[in-house]
Amino acid sequence: MFDRDSWERRWARALREHADVVTKRPPNGYLLEVAEDLRPGLALDAGCGHGAETLWLAAHGWRVTAVDFAATALDHARSSAEAVGTDVAGRVDWVQGDLAVWTPPPARFDLVTCLYVHMAAGVTETVRRLASGVAPGGTLLLAGHRPVDPSTGDATAAAGQVQVSVDEARAALDGWEVLVGEDRPRAAPGTGVDAVVRARRLT
Ligand SMILES: C[S@@+](CC[C@H](N)C(=O)[O-])C[C@H]1O[C@@H](n2cnc3c(N)ncnc32)[C@H](O)[C@@H]1O
Repeated sequence: MFDRDSWERRWARALREHADVVTKRPPNGYLLEVAEDLRPGLALDAGCGHGAETLWLAAHGWRVTAVDFAATALDHARSSAEAVGTDVAGRVDWVQGDLAVWTPPPARFDLVTCLYVHMAAGVTETVRRLASGVAPGGTLLLAGHRPVDPSTGDATAAAGQVQVSVDEARAALDGWEVLVGEDRPRAAPGTGVDAVVRARRLT
């Protein structure tokens, strides 16, 4: 249901029906919150989609590796970066890769972010693999749409999906400093709850 073909179809439909809305979507607030505290360096945006976070990072001086398995999303994101300017576009490496197996270069990035990506290879394995790309002292930011609202027990729009949870991320990040690990209800009531994890690699 969330394999590459299904994402290609989702992105193709979204861009056909409202490319302008997709292009104008603001970068994720959790990322802005985290980036405020960091000096620009090397970042990995794992599951970059339409590229709002990648573009924001590149526009703020980060050099970004942006990975997604959907060519449709990557093409759109690449054109958006080029429309912003050659300096921003020049700071991004777009990579078509499957995050169920794609492994970052070890201990390379000052920031690794993975927002709302289905972890087909399992949460523990995927979190550990992505975390292996963070340099000592660097930051990992994860967000996942919870399948069940913990305050009500009701199924959310992410019901049945395998996304990161706070407990699984904490367990996978043994030896890291977890600075944030909490479920945050989305701003619009009833639209879901996000698991948000911010962690720092100690060694
Ligand atoms: C819900 S979107 C989130 C996009 C972006 N991170 C954001 O927060 O707006 C999930 C993205 O992850 C990508 N994706 C899902 N599973 C993937 C996988 N196994 N490998 C690479 N990309 C994947 C999809 O193509 C899609 O672009």
